[in-house]
Amino acid sequence: MCGIVGYIGERQASDILIKGLSRLEYRGYDSAGIAIANGKLEVRKKKGKIVHLSNDLERAGISGKIGIGHTRWATHGAPNDVNAHPHVSSDGTFALVHNGIIENYTALRESLSSRGYNFTSQTDTEVLVRLIEDVQKNTGLSLGKAVRQALSQVEGAYGIALVSGEDSDMLIAARKGSPLLLGIGEGEYFLGSDAAPIIEYTKKVVYLNDGELIIVRRSGFKVFSVEDEALDKTVHELEWDLEQIEKGGYEHFMLKEIMEQPSAVENSMRGRMLDHDPFVQLGGMMDSIEDLKNASRIILCACGTSWHAALVGEYLIESLARIPVEVEYASEFRYRNPILREGDAVIVISQSGETADTLAAMEEAQKNNVPVYGICNTVGSTIARETKAGVYLHAGPEIGVASTKAFTAQVSVLTQLALKLSQGRTLGDDELKEYVTEMKAIPAKIQQVLDSADYVKEISQIYGHASNFLYLGRGPNFPVALEGALKLKEISYIHAEGYPAAEMKHGPIALIDESMPVVFLAMQDSSYQKVLSNIEEVAARDGIVIAVTDANNGDLDALCEHVIRIPKTIELLSPLLSVVPLQLLSYYIAVMRGCEVDQPRNLAKSVTVE
Ligand code: M6R
Repeated sequence: MCGIVGYIGERQASDILIKGLSRLEYRGYDSAGIAIANGKLEVRKKKGKIVHLSNDLERAGISGKIGIGHTRWATHGAPNDVNAHPHVSSDGTFALVHNGIIENYTALRESLSSRGYNFTSQTDTEVLVRLIEDVQKNTGLSLGKAVRQALSQVEGAYGIALVSGEDSDMLIAARKGSPLLLGIGEGEYFLGSDAAPIIEYTKKVVYLNDGELIIVRRSGFKVFSVEDEALDKTVHELEWDLEQIEKGGYEHFMLKEIMEQPSAVENSMRGRMLDHDPFVQLGGMMDSIEDLKNASRIILCACGTSWHAALVGEYLIESLARIPVEVEYASEFRYRNPILREGDAVIVISQSGETADTLAAMEEAQKNNVPVYGICNTVGSTIARETKAGVYLHAGPEIGVASTKAFTAQVSVLTQLALKLSQGRTLGDDELKEYVTEMKAIPAKIQQVLDSADYVKEISQIYGHASNFLYLGRGPNFPVALEGALKLKEISYIHAEGYPAAEMKHGPIALIDESMPVVFLAMQDSSYQKVLSNIEEVAARDGIVIAVTDANNGDLDALCEHVIRIPKTIELLSPLLSVVPLQLLSYYIAVMRGCEVDQPRNLAKSVTVE
C-alpha cells in the first residue's frame, strides 16, 4: 500500500527512483511522483501509473543525485495530480512522501488552518508537511529534529521519507507501522518500503523499527530512537535475487508465480521434512512446539488469501493434532474484544508480514500476554521480527497482487506444523511417514496440474463472459472454494461466491440457472458422495458444472460440462492441488477480459493501512 523509494549517491537519482517505483508498483498505482534536490527542489508527479510519470521525465528530465519517490494507493483524497506525493512545504524547502494514515489529521489540519497554514490537497500527508513546517518555525530546530517532534504529535501509521532543497546531502526517513529499509551501497544509499527497489544495487540492508528515524548522508547514516538516542543497527543480508522479482519471460507475475508453485512448495519444505524421526523440523519454532502442543486453543489470524490458508490450517491441526483451532479475520479481531486466556496461542499468517490488520491482531494478543507466532514470507518483515517465533514460507517474492504461491506455501507450512504437533500424540511414526512421503510428492503433482493449463484455458474462454460464478467445496476444500472465488473477483471483476457445498441447498441454489458456472471441488474423499448429490442437484436445474476431481474419476463426465482432473492425494493435502486449476481459471479469464492481472483496480499488494 503505497511504495516509497529514496536515493543518495553519485548517480542520477531520477533513473533509480523511476526504476525503483516500477518495482514497487504492485504496492499502489493511483499516482506517482518524485522530488529531486539539486541546489533547489524539483518535484514531478502524475496521476495514474508510473509510465505517465516516466514519459513526462523523458520529455524533460530532472538532474540531481538525491531524491525520493512514491507510488500511491489512495486513502485520503482522490487519485489525481494534486493529491499525488511528494508534498512540498509552503516555502518549497523540503518534500515528503508518506505511506500509512495520519489518523488525527482532521484535528491537526483544523489547528494548522487556524494558524494560517493553507492546504492544496485533501491528503493527510500534507498535514504532516505543514506540521513539520510549524515545528520548524516555532522552534528553529533542524529538519531532522523538527520531523521527530512533529511525529510525536501524530497518531496513526507512517513510513515517510524527506528530502531538503537546502541540503543536497541528506535524506530523512522514519517509520511507525509502515515498513522501510535502507540499502547500503558503496558511497550510496537506497531507501525502499520493501527490498524490491534495492536488490539490484545491494544486498546489505538495515531494517528500520517502529519509532526510529534515520538521517542518511553520502558519508554514512545514523538511526535515532523515539527518545532521540543514536542506535546501533544490525546490517542484514537480503536473501532474494533480482531475477526473482522480474517476470522471466512470463506475460504476468501472476502466471509466473502460479507456475513457480512446484518449487515454492518444495522450498517451503526444504530441510524440514524427513521420512524418519523427527519427521518435521521447523527451525525457528522448535523451542515452541511443546508449548503449542499444550495450548488449550490455537487462534489463527490473517486476512484475504492468508485467511483462507488459515481455514485449511484449522482442518489440518484439528484433524491431525486434535488441538482446538479458531480462525479469525485479523481485521475484526481486536475490535470485538476477543476473549484471550492463559493457554491460548496465536499464529498470525501473512505473505507480506506487513498487513496492518494482522499486525494489529498480533499486538492485541501480545497486549493480553498471549504468545504470538508468525508464518510469513517476507524475511525481516514486522511479523518476522515481532513475533515470539515463526516459520518462513521461503516461497520467494510474490509480486502479483493476487496471491497464489504464497497460499500453497502457507498450506504446506501449516501441514508441516500440524504434523509436528501430532507427533507423539495423535499420529504414530507410520502415519507421519506416510504424510511426509506424500508431501514430498506434492511439488511433482502440482506440476502435473500445471501441465493441464491449456484445458483450463479452454474452459476460461467459454465462461469468461459470465457475470457470476459459484464455487463449492467441502471439508478442507471449502476454503479452496473461497479462494477460487476471491481470485476470480479480484482480477477479473466477476462476482463470485464460495460456499460449503452442503450449504447450497440453504439458499444459493436459488441462483442456479443456465448462465451461471458452478465450480465444484469434488475429490473422491470422505464427503465425495454428498458432493456428488450436490452436483446432481445443480445439473437437475440446468446449471453449468465445472468439476475438479481426481485423475481416475470417470463418474462425473456425464453430469458435468467440464471435468478438470488432478492427481490423487491424501484428503487433507488436496487443497495444495485443487487450488491450482482455480488460480489458472481466474488468470485466463482475466486475461481474456483484458483486465490488468498484476495490478487489479482498487487493490494493492500489501495492505499497510487498517
Ligand atoms: O500479505 P498478507 O498475506 O497479509 O495479505 C493479506 C491479503 O491482503 C491478501 O491475501 C489479499 O487478499 C490478496 N490480494 C489475495 O489475492
